[in-house]
Amino acid sequence: MEVLQTSILTVSFLVFMNGVLSSPPDDPVQCTSGNRNCTIKNAYGVFPDRSTCRASQVLYPTTEQELVSMVASASKSNTKVKAATRYSHSIPKLACPGGQDGIIISTNKLNNVVNVDVDRRRMTVESGVLLRDLINEAAKNGLALPTTPSWWGITVGGLLATGAHGSSLWGKGSAVHEYVVSMRIVTPARAEEGYAKVRSLTELDEELDAAKVSVGVLGIVSQVTLQLEPLFKRRLTYLMKKDSDLGEELIRFGKAHEFGEVNWLPTQKKALYRVDDRVPMNHSGDGLYDSVAFRAYPSAQLASSRATEEHQEATRDANGICRSAQLATKTSETSAYGLTNNGTIFTGYPVIGQNNRMESSGSCLESKQDALLTICPWDSRLQVVFNYETAFSISLSKVPSFIKDVEKLVELEPQALCQLEINNGILIRYIKASSAYLGKTEDALDFDFIYYRSKDPLTPRLFEDILEEIEQIGLFKYGGLPHWGKNRNLAFKEVINKHPNANKFLSVKREYDPQGIFSNEWTDQILGLRKDVTTILKDGCALEGLCICSEDRHCAPAKKYYCRPGKVYKEARVCAFEG
Ligand SMILES: Cc1cc2nc3c(=O)[nH]c(=O)nc-3n(C[C@H](O)[C@H](O)[C@H](O)COP(=O)(O)OP(=O)(O)OC[C@H]3O[C@@H](n4cnc5c(N)ncnc54)[C@H](O)[C@@H]3O)c2cc1C
Ligand SMILES: *[C@@H]1O[C@H](CO)[C@@H](O)[C@H](O)[C@H]1NC(C)=O
Ligand SMILES: *[C@@H]1O[C@H](CO)[C@@H](O)[C@H](O)[C@H]1NC(C)=O
Ligand SMILES: *[C@@H]1O[C@H](CO)[C@@H](O)[C@H](O)[C@H]1NC(C)=O
Repeated sequence: MEVLQTSILTVSFLVFMNGVLSSPPDDPVQCTSGNRNCTIKNAYGVFPDRSTCRASQVLYPTTEQELVSMVASASKSNTKVKAATRYSHSIPKLACPGGQDGIIISTNKLNNVVNVDVDRRRMTVESGVLLRDLINEAAKNGLALPTTPSWWGITVGGLLATGAHGSSLWGKGSAVHEYVVSMRIVTPARAEEGYAKVRSLTELDEELDAAKVSVGVLGIVSQVTLQLEPLFKRRLTYLMKKDSDLGEELIRFGKAHEFGEVNWLPTQKKALYRVDDRVPMNHSGDGLYDSVAFRAYPSAQLASSRATEEHQEATRDANGICRSAQLATKTSETSAYGLTNNGTIFTGYPVIGQNNRMESSGSCLESKQDALLTICPWDSRLQVVFNYETAFSISLSKVPSFIKDVEKLVELEPQALCQLEINNGILIRYIKASSAYLGKTEDALDFDFIYYRSKDPLTPRLFEDILEEIEQIGLFKYGGLPHWGKNRNLAFKEVINKHPNANKFLSVKREYDPQGIFSNEWTDQILGLRKDVTTILKDGCALEGLCICSEDRHCAPAKKYYCRPGKVYKEARVCAFEG
């Protein structure tokens, strides 16, 4: 996610240059007495419905054998259980054990590289290994995972479960699960089998298509083997262009450049093209992409930036937000988006560097404790950067119409999307159709929107209605598939019906975990096992995306926000300001 704010940026460079330390994020699992009486949070510290998830205890297996005995004991006693990761970055309530007194099994200590087979270009890792360590260890062995998610503080187990991806329409595409050739998953089992067992799946097993993207409900993955490629370099140039004919242009661009990616700035009528191609290792260059979104920033600076945003919201200062957006765009351009040609300074495009240094980053993780003086911007302890992240993929054939609809909305409300442009605009990435049962059903473009979330759940946002309409256009008019690890509740409305292989997934689930100990209320909802309860109907629910409004009280009538049809997509129901 991109969280840069102009004022943050300037300061950050000073901080970065002076090597000031930061405080890496906290453990998302906190217990009051030893490993008992625990809560689990996501990285923001707040779930979409703002509830707290509880568990009776947390366990830290260090080997697969220990993991098996922990799952056996949960299975024997029919106790709810869930895997948790080092940084818990999924936004929806995927990481919570069902009920209030389930067990959390953390993969923090399952973080070893098991084997690197250089000849066959395969690497086997334990599921708690961070993306950062995976790609760097691969590179040390002359190997590469071609394209990866941009934030590297996520684990192999967690990123597979949610279908996380980078950007590419070439080869196997951008989802990491496309590179899985085998995995070992610990599931419940019959009493005769000792209540738990390891299932070893290879490409010959159809069940791998369930286990690769499992939203965590099949059991706990202990090891994963990935098919890698020989290490290569990338040659990268950022190019800002007019956004005319963007829909067609996007399709052409994805075919022309292996790792292309686009940030769309619809208000400024521009699009930033990341022209990113594979080049052989003998090209010279030691470039580095250290995304400005994932660096450590002084918390005081982040707080002042947030205060500005809150003030702009409170005073309905659309001009101010649009000025901030333009400044943010300029500042990112000046900072070359976090690129340097040799790890220290930026001297010009193209930037050429090793694959593992050019896409994923997260330097705010690699820092010592400094008592929260500097933090990852979204640190859950301070909650200064507090945003929604909506992300869905739309099949390529429908992209031009989706783009046109967004453009119509911008014509009607020219300042409505400035808020997105503060955060680098709409991030657009390529992803291919997958055989994974819960994967993408068609070649698609993933649209990622980061925008202001109020600290107060009952306070509406400026231009609330326009973003809500875009969300509903993408998800319902064009049948977009939500990212399992992001989004607000409404995005998952009837999501299971968009996956033609859902039944195959559910039959594997019934076989692996017949008691449903790995399921919670949220996963039952998204998998269609409970009726439409992703919707939480209450006053103000549409403001937080907990429902689509059907009555004014779902918005904020006292603040003059009423439930109205969309302006372009009449079937949409959005909270519109009528002041
Ligand atoms: C700041 C930020 C940046 C992000 N950047 C990206 C990005 O660049 N690309 C992207 O695609 N998404 C991104 N996301 C979304 C989110 O991080 C992803 O969904 C990510 O895949 C979560 O990985 P995690 O290791 O944190 O897993 P968690 O969120 O902790 O877990 C996700 C699910 O997987 C299950 N699980 C975890 N480990 C295992 C295991 N070993 N076996 C079985 N189940 C398991 C958990 O129980 C849970 O259900 C971002 C989110 C934030 C807040
Ligand atoms: C359990 O934790 C909660 C806070 O999360 C605390 O209020 C409560 O006192 C704790 N109970 C015990 C028995 O420690
Ligand atoms: C890299 O190696 C290839 C094949 O060995 C060669 O054809 C090419 O000219 C080399 N490129 C550079 C930039 O050295
Ligand atoms: C990068 O280049 C600059 C200028 O050429 C130089 O001062 C700096 O030391 C270089 N950094 C590295 C890591 O090589």
